[in-house]
Amino acid sequence: MKHALVFGGSGQIGRPLLGRLLREGWRITALSRQPQHERTGLAWLRGDFSALPALPARVDAIVSCGPLDAFAQWYGAARIECDRIVAFGSTSVDVKRGSADPRERDVAQRLRAGEEGVLATAALRSAQATLLRPTLIYGAGRDATLTRIARLAQRWGRFPLPRNATGRRQPVHVDDLAAAAFAVLGTAAAHGQTYALPGGETLPYREMVQRVLAVLEPPPSLVELPSPLFNLALAAAKLAGGTGLGEAAVRRMRTDLVFDDTPARRDFGYAPRAFRPTARMFEAREEIEEIV
Ligand SMILES: NC(=O)c1ccc[n+]([C@@H]2O[C@H](COP(=O)([O-])OP(=O)(O)OC[C@H]3O[C@@H](n4cnc5c(N)ncnc54)[C@H](OP(=O)(O)O)[C@@H]3O)[C@@H](O)[C@H]2O)c1
Repeated sequence: MKHALVFGGSGQIGRPLLGRLLREGWRITALSRQPQHERTGLAWLRGDFSALPALPARVDAIVSCGPLDAFAQWYGAARIECDRIVAFGSTSVDVKRGSADPRERDVAQRLRAGEEGVLATAALRSAQATLLRPTLIYGAGRDATLTRIARLAQRWGRFPLPRNATGRRQPVHVDDLAAAAFAVLGTAAAHGQTYALPGGETLPYREMVQRVLAVLEPPPSLVELPSPLFNLALAAAKLAGGTGLGEAAVRRMRTDLVFDDTPARRDFGYAPRAFRPTARMFEAREEIEEIV
């Protein structure tokens, strides 16, 4: 029975990945800071990268679905024997590199350093690493973009956007990302590669939000505002508790963030679904049992 060590197994991507590994007969040791329920074939360890519990001496695969920079640091110093590493980064590594916001540039820089660190350590150990960069994630009711939009829209009964929010997006479902991580584990062509993992449909930001609002009950209306009015609404929302939306993010609503999935389709049959949201995708779902 193959044994996987999964970091971030309780996260949006981590949960469906655990389900997939269990269904395919893998034994799993998963790790996160918050305690989780164990089940047959799945052992949970509790710890932070800065203070990890004792880990298995040897596993067949390590998958990182948590913070990439912390994982890269840990992997660089770890003694564990393992030939196969799969780690999630983000397309933010490119998108935020030239941001006007220094915090976003820092995110991009840490992602870049994490990617380089994982590849360099794997090369030193003659292990095979693959890096996966998702675009905007949805589907688990826990993402910071579409689920947050859905919750705010339900609270307000409407959702404001600036009038020119036409930058194209490729939202990607968490189950498609879990499927991708599982597929690359068995794909030699993916060794040493980095893949963008966009969703299966490219659509304007406004259309993406409209589809989310349309599945809510009752459906909130989309209110398109001239930019100055939208900025005022944003400032008011920040005062009332915050939306998590920065100026750089608002500017990006006009920018296309489009990535090519041809290499992923070619190498491991990546076939992400079109963006067809349902209300349930914006409700939190916690149980692994539900997914297995
Ligand atoms: N969300 C997005 O839209 C998005 C987009 C592109 C790429 N990504 C990347 O995809 C990966 C997975 O994202 P996600 O949204 O599925 O993540 P998530 O839901 O936030 O889950 C993160 C996981 O990592 C664990 N974790 C966080 N900090 C940790 C620490 N210091 N030590 C040990 N475990 C820690 C969390 O569990 P505990 O909190 O219990 O520790 C959880 O299991 C990440 O690398 C993320 O950067 C995300």
